[in-house]
Amino acid sequence: MVNGLVREKILALLRNGNYVSGEELSKKLNISRTAIWKHIKALERKGYKIEGKPNLGYRLVEKPDLLFPHEIKAGLKTKKFGCKIFHFKEVTSTQEIAKKLAIQGYEEGTIVVAEKQTQGRGRVGREWFSPFGGVWLSIILKPKIPPQHAQKITLLVAVAIAKTIRKMYNLDAKIKWPNDVLIGNRKVCGILVEASGEADRVNYMVVGVGVNINFDFRKVQPKLAETAISISQALGKKVSRVEFVQNFLVEMEKAYNIFEAGGFNQILDEWKKLSSILGCKVKIVSYKETFVGEAIDVDEDGFLLVKLEDGLIRRVVAGDVYVRKV
Ligand code: BTN
Repeated sequence: MVNGLVREKILALLRNGNYVSGEELSKKLNISRTAIWKHIKALERKGYKIEGKPNLGYRLVEKPDLLFPHEIKAGLKTKKFGCKIFHFKEVTSTQEIAKKLAIQGYEEGTIVVAEKQTQGRGRVGREWFSPFGGVWLSIILKPKIPPQHAQKITLLVAVAIAKTIRKMYNLDAKIKWPNDVLIGNRKVCGILVEASGEADRVNYMVVGVGVNINFDFRKVQPKLAETAISISQALGKKVSRVEFVQNFLVEMEKAYNIFEAGGFNQILDEWKKLSSILGCKVKIVSYKETFVGEAIDVDEDGFLLVKLEDGLIRRVVAGDVYVRKV
């Protein structure tokens, strides 16, 4: 058995927090007690705190706050999302890795997570600040839709993220069209959906989500502190990123199944309830123009409808939205 697998099995046996004797571990894994001890030391080097007591054995005291696949998979309540998990300590961008995996044929629901990104990418070619302590994650999807429906997936992911944050931490997470999840009026998560395909069919999609979790913008990136927030800042304490990923994957799978069964309208209703901008005066800034109006609705394709002062309704396909104080 390879080292990684032995260590995962040891962790699985220690997971309930009780003492397990070296003898029992050695019997169950069919290796010597010295070998068990060496694996325990290796796990400690990875950040696990394991107490060893004579006559009692070993006990798992603390897990590191790292997104190891075996930690995410332990207790993961999904069928498809997270079926395969690729984990990196540091990458340029999880989007790039996920795209390569999609091209190689990896199945829908495969995810790529990183502790840190050196070239995290945001929407419209922007840089995405991705230090240690966030959840930087990309999911491969293969929906049976034309590429122009990618916008629906963005809305679906935003709903899944907002619901996860609300359920787990009781925070008032809201969605700002098209792809920002906010706490207060500061961004806690961004979503980047990239599709590859032909005119009428998507070959694959890579859904990237960046969630600010256990770091403090005021300390690590003060220039973003006015506009961005992390979960730990909002709560005043750190949380388990592994549990966040597990819960998000469950919400994501639920929403995606509804979508695949033709229920986008249900997702859209949820989106509207969670929207931070419907009914607000907004300024729309796109690459070609800037205009103001009232955000009145999102249509069945996921595009924003803005009513101008003269009563005309504009359908916004892309752009940044700024809520105006009236
Ligand atoms: C945005 O709001 O502009 C979208 C941000 C998306 C960031 C995520 S982090 C994981 C994935 N990898 C990337 O390089 N970008 C997305």
